Amino acid sequence: MIHLEKLTYDNFYDVFGLKVKKVQYPFVASNMFSVAEAYVTMINGGHVYPFAIYNDKKLVGFIQLAYGENADQDGVSMEKDSYEVWRFMIDKRYQGRGYGKEALKLALDFIRTFPAGPAELCWISYEPENETARKLYASFGFEETGEMCGDEIVAVLKL
Ligand SMILES: CC(C)(COP(=O)(O)OP(=O)(O)OC[C@H]1O[C@@H](n2cnc3c(N)ncnc32)[C@H](O)[C@@H]1OP(=O)(O)O)[C@@H](O)C(=O)NCCC(=O)NCCS
Repeated sequence: MIHLEKLTYDNFYDVFGLKVKKVQYPFVASNMFSVAEAYVTMINGGHVYPFAIYNDKKLVGFIQLAYGENADQDGVSMEKDSYEVWRFMIDKRYQGRGYGKEALKLALDFIRTFPAGPAELCWISYEPENETARKLYASFGFEETGEMCGDEIVAVLKL
């Protein structure tokens, strides 16, 4: 069963060891880089929620959620007072088994508890070539806004 757990001293090294396929490197930052960004966000008053993704006891992926204007620095207009799926990956050994879909559902359930405050939107961005991500997010109701975050397509979900 897929579940999310917060990062701890016991699992963070293993989270840093998770890897996507080489062709997917342009699609997501390394987990170590993401956690470094989470730290910088937090010490500057931002809200960020990095989670390890487990299938039963097996670590299979990583997802990092965020809220508010400190969530990112790229100037997307809905950034303020909205949640974001900031980083998301399933290790290359465990992709294609439905884990990503289940983890995203749990992440959205968590967001809908509004842990950092109320919001109407959750946004996400992905590379135009990332067809798997685009389809996955669309299946949850994310809609592309026509806006770009750097070179990434922006899509939003009404919470
Ligand atoms: C995107 C990602 C998290 C999806 O995780 P996953 O566990 O492989 O996905 P799932 O097995 O839950 O599959 C979700 C959907 O994607 C489809 N899918 C999965 N891998 C696919 C592939 N290689 N090619 C085409 N479709 C694929 C599945 O068929 C499923 O669609 P369905 O519900 O219509 O059957 C994972 O592929 C990944 O880590 N990619 C690299 C990093 C990345 O792109 N992150 C997102 C950045 S925005």
